[in-house]
Amino acid sequence: MIVTIDGPAGAGKSSIAHQVAAQLAFEFLDTGALYRAATLAAIRAQIDLQDAERLSEFVATLNLSWQDRTVRLDGEDVSELIRTPEVTQSIRYLADVPAVRTQLSQIQRDIAEGRDIVTEGRDQGAEVFPHAECKVFLTASPVERAKRRMRQLADSGRYVSLEDVLAAQNQRDLEDRMRDVGRLRAAEDAVVVNTDGMLPEEVLQQIVSLVRSRIESR
Ligand code: DC
Repeated sequence: MIVTIDGPAGAGKSSIAHQVAAQLAFEFLDTGALYRAATLAAIRAQIDLQDAERLSEFVATLNLSWQDRTVRLDGEDVSELIRTPEVTQSIRYLADVPAVRTQLSQIQRDIAEGRDIVTEGRDQGAEVFPHAECKVFLTASPVERAKRRMRQLADSGRYVSLEDVLAAQNQRDLEDRMRDVGRLRAAEDAVVVNTDGMLPEEVLQQIVSLVRSRIESR
């Protein structure tokens, strides 16, 4: 069974997807980590990030794998290295190239093949796994997401005002919706879960119950 969890940044996808997978004893796939690892590899190889054709040729040569929640490039664990601001800022060059998305989507399908898995990303239910049996679109109001982001930043010692976080987030949301490829959107058959005012535990239980009911009705 494939469970897809999509949604905007700050909706709490990542931690919920981890917990759902743990509670159901499913595997977990962080598709953002694959985009990040491919970006890291392109930076290391000094590929011209503006050259879409070159990028897609390069990504085709990558030995990218995901196992036990660890992303590897040619066998090297790059889980930490993919979280730098340099990688984060460069991802869009790859994520906006349709041929790169096609390749990374195929890698995601290969990873999920024959498994019980929770996948997390932007395009999972609508693009990569259109036949997934359980699709969730996790969202929250802009203010709620910005507050969470502000708390996350404060936890790592960076103090930013709510207004600034909200302004940056609105800009990102707009760009996400305007993108020609890899646009964030809920699949038509996704269950939309708005987490405003919900405790993380309640969100978790709602999604776990949904997956269990889908398993029972198979
Ligand atoms: O979830 P994340 O922040 O690790 O994702 C990093 C970037 O990768 C995000 O800015 C958008 C892109 N991405 C994507 O285009 N499609 C996905 N399925 C996952 C991530």
